[in-house]
Amino acid sequence: MAVLQERRPMVAGNWKMNTTDAEAGDLARETVRALGDIAGTDVDVVLCPPFVSLTTVYETIAGSPLLLGAQTLNAAPKGAYTGEVSWTMLRGLCTHVIVGHSERRTYYHETDEDVNKKTLAALDAGLTPIACVGERLEQREAGQAHAYVAGQVRALLDGVAPGAIREVCIAYEPLWAIGTGRSADGPVAREVAALIRGVARELCGEGAEGMRVLYGGSVTAANAAEFAAQPDIDGALVGGASLDAAAFAAITRAFV
Ligand code: 13P
Repeated sequence: MAVLQERRPMVAGNWKMNTTDAEAGDLARETVRALGDIAGTDVDVVLCPPFVSLTTVYETIAGSPLLLGAQTLNAAPKGAYTGEVSWTMLRGLCTHVIVGHSERRTYYHETDEDVNKKTLAALDAGLTPIACVGERLEQREAGQAHAYVAGQVRALLDGVAPGAIREVCIAYEPLWAIGTGRSADGPVAREVAALIRGVARELCGEGAEGMRVLYGGSVTAANAAEFAAQPDIDGALVGGASLDAAAFAAITRAFV
């Protein structure tokens, strides 16, 4: 199907609050070595280091097909927001930015409205937002996972123009799977990925067929193929395993 072929897989490594600047440079270098042959043609590979190492990683991957992402952004262009980093600072350095990660929603109280503002700001800045959604364990057990995730997707896409939906990437990261070693089953993740695309189609039309949906949560070299085999899952957002270039490369290759 032509439409499906248009969705080049994407695998993004979210390094979270790990790596010193020297370690970030080394990890980026090793990842380029491990994936330089397939990145950019068969798969988009995005490295998301901590803010302080964006420049180091930018310089390390320059000339390679790997892409650079930030882990969050502030939707305001500049101003008195101590500690924050705006899209104007990221533009020109990054191509991607994670927004609404559950750790930001949980620990820094980011709301659906904040995530929507960040998504719109990223798009305006020409950055690809990798917007995260996902339910808690209690919600899944209560049969509310689909309704909850659909609500998060509706909120984050509010105001996204139909023509821009292809530039959006949504990562389904159930909270119970993040950093727990307990990943979702492939078919469970697929069901939610299809739901996410359905909501995007409802809001933004057929362009949603070009929007990439990733799975994240305890993705490893051992289970990546299970997710790669699912239609509607176009890649992965990888946390812990992205800190090991060999493991990250093995995960990425599963999606090619
Ligand atoms: P883990 O791969 O460590 O479970 O983290 C997933 C994640 O939160 C990626 O954003």
